Amino acid sequence: MEHRVSRFLVAAEQSYQRHLGAYLSRSSYERMCRSPGVIDLAFGDPHERPAPRLVELLQRGLEPRSPDWFAYTRDHVPAQRAIAERLATELRKPFIPDDIALTNGAFAGLVVCLRTICEPGDEVLHLTPGWFYYESMISSAGGTPRAVRLAAGEWRLDPDRIAAAITPRTSALIINTPHNPTGVVYSKEELAALADVLAEASHRRGQPIYLISDEAYRRIVFDGVSCPSPGEFYSYTLLVHTYTKSLLLPGERIGYIAIPPGMPDRQFMRDALTTARLMTGWAFPNNALQYAAPELDCHTIAVPPLQHRRDILAKGFVAAGFRALPSHGTFYMLVEVPDGDDWDHVSRLEGCGVLALPGSVMGAPGYLRLSLTATDDMVDEASGRVRSLYGDLLRSRSDVHG
Ligand SMILES: Cc1ncc(COP(=O)(O)O)c(C=O)c1O
Repeated sequence: MEHRVSRFLVAAEQSYQRHLGAYLSRSSYERMCRSPGVIDLAFGDPHERPAPRLVELLQRGLEPRSPDWFAYTRDHVPAQRAIAERLATELRKPFIPDDIALTNGAFAGLVVCLRTICEPGDEVLHLTPGWFYYESMISSAGGTPRAVRLAAGEWRLDPDRIAAAITPRTSALIINTPHNPTGVVYSKEELAALADVLAEASHRRGQPIYLISDEAYRRIVFDGVSCPSPGEFYSYTLLVHTYTKSLLLPGERIGYIAIPPGMPDRQFMRDALTTARLMTGWAFPNNALQYAAPELDCHTIAVPPLQHRRDILAKGFVAAGFRALPSHGTFYMLVEVPDGDDWDHVSRLEGCGVLALPGSVMGAPGYLRLSLTATDDMVDEASGRVRSLYGDLLRSRSDVHG
């Protein structure tokens, strides 16, 4: 007898194989990533020991101070309170603790939002280029992913293209600012125009079209740019945040979904998000992390070093013939390849021990995504290697052609 798995999961798997799975199977990433001397610029993982203060906070969460310390805990109220206060200050809106739904990272936050909103067959819009998991997540929740392609090169939010993609079956749109992989931060004007489009389409449909706002990198912005939150402009927004980026600890899973104060009938949404978290297999963070959350929320990794690495990598890759795009936030930047396709350049770079992600797997063919979470030394070394690799290639070409 053959196995039979859910068709939603099959669709999710197929999408995964077209995106991240394609990179992992076509490249030498898995074989090379932990080898000595290899510089991993493909993913936003930490490469330095975590700050002792952070370790201390996590350890403290593991030391029982009451008999029920490790009891089943949904939302830990002091964590909700601290997050709501911080959001109220940052976004100048009266967020309240009840509207903070803790999750184990943005991954769970996004899946929980989709499972809450999606009926089988509903269309969920997402923007491309974009994070490689959105399509799989939408499919796994029973939705039909609909990609809205943004104008190449600039990749600004385009409310007209989004308006054109909305159909009577559209139930949600996922956006991400600061945006992975382009590093674009959406402006107030763009978000206000998007809010108008969604409000009008919701009105026509007689049901809200939800905006799932993936703000995983909200605190990782460069060049003094400010990052407005989409929920400031549109009340049917679910704001998804995670500490895995702001503290660079992706293996420790804590984040939240915040319901903005302007959303009507918030109790209904609170209850739905709780049920969705339970039925997603207890998608709440572990107690130790929830206990640490009020203090975790006060810390953010140092952002200037990321910006510095962006500049070093931009210089190195530009000297090698690539074009660097201005990244204003996230852990990433894009460089446009000088010729051929992005996969060719991924292989060439592997040849000199530098791992980069082909833009093709994120809807940006012709570009490479470089991670800024490598150390300064790794980034310096990578720039040097890239310059000499491409310098040699250019020299060998001019020898051949005379
Ligand atoms: C845009 C975006 N959203 C969400 C996530 C997932 O974050 P988490 O590790 O908190 O699940 C990532 C991780 O890379 C991301 O880049």
